[in-house]
Amino acid sequence: MFRMSADQAHEWTIKTSSMVSNWPPVISLIHNMYCYEDAALRQQIHGLTFPNPVGLAAGFDKNGLTIPLMQALGFGFVEIGSITAKPSPGNPKPRSFRLPEDRSIINRMGLNNEGVETVTKRLSKLEPLKIPLGINIAKTHDSSIQGDSALEDYRLSFEAVKPIADYITINISCPNTSDGKTFENPESLAELLDLLSVGRDASDPPVFVKISADADRGLLTELLDLCENHSIRGYVAVNTSSGRDHLRSNPEFIRSCGRGGLSGKAIQAKSTEVISFIHEKTKGSKIIIGVGGIFSVEDAIEKLKAGANLLQIYTGLVYEGPELVKTINQGISRVLRKEGKEHIYQLVSG
Ligand SMILES: Cc1cc2nc3c(=O)[nH]c(=O)nc-3n(C[C@H](O)[C@H](O)[C@H](O)COP(=O)(O)O)c2cc1C
Repeated sequence: MFRMSADQAHEWTIKTSSMVSNWPPVISLIHNMYCYEDAALRQQIHGLTFPNPVGLAAGFDKNGLTIPLMQALGFGFVEIGSITAKPSPGNPKPRSFRLPEDRSIINRMGLNNEGVETVTKRLSKLEPLKIPLGINIAKTHDSSIQGDSALEDYRLSFEAVKPIADYITINISCPNTSDGKTFENPESLAELLDLLSVGRDASDPPVFVKISADADRGLLTELLDLCENHSIRGYVAVNTSSGRDHLRSNPEFIRSCGRGGLSGKAIQAKSTEVISFIHEKTKGSKIIIGVGGIFSVEDAIEKLKAGANLLQIYTGLVYEGPELVKTINQGISRVLRKEGKEHIYQLVSG
């Protein structure tokens, strides 16, 4: 895979995974090889059953093409997207770059996706899943959509995914669009959450907000207070970072990649700090999906002990391969036994 460019490798993976997803005998073979079950890892969260804490992060499968395969690979949940109200080709290629020395990726995909109508139609034809399906929504990447039109754009996606999502993530932290992180500003986010009337209806799926790796603590506190007043059930922490600190890769190469969000090992510590901060500020009352630089059991345990209830991986999957899901789950079971704990709930920092 590493002989192809990062963009080509991802396209090839999605194409192949999509084909395999429509091939039930292969899916059941893969399920037998990769799935790991342990009742100690199962969690009930907001009425949803997560058979294990390791989820697929948004961005890998933007259009919901590979969900049966991801379930067979042993993921405890899958988050697709970001999807947007209108289809979008994203930024010109090349738009993703591997930094192997840093076990990281820089990407500026730019919210490429087929649009909410096509994706929801596809999802409505899926066989029932045994794992929760999260749908991550963002504003269409089009800088002419501003103000009330931007709000309406989000509302359209939100209403369309509500009937089929087990949970919804509102992505306010994508660093890769020409109009920037338009809703990370507290006033805009307040307007958006008012319009969406999150939690008005008891039958609505739980809604999470995806937080930037780069939000300073003042802004983060404001965002958390705001979300607290709008029935937000939790946070996905974190999105990619615009920073380029502490990288070992050749500076010339890093410069040549240009702008984009950094993911992987390079943001691991940053992500854990944000998780701890949110856990402390919310006194453990909100669900935290911890994401950023998880490559091993130790990384997963670090996030859980910092306050994450669930985890997601993307860059780790690229470098370590799909066995990583089983490796992490088996490892968490081992740690639970070693520490004399009966359930994963007991690992999350008190
Ligand atoms: C190529 C690529 C595309 C991504 N696209 C999205 C996206 O569309 N929406 C989103 O919320 N996050 C997106 N992400 C961010 C990931 O979901 C995750 O938050 C981030 O990569 C940190 O996790 P990791 O270190 O395990 O990769 C993307 C990440 C990568 C590497």
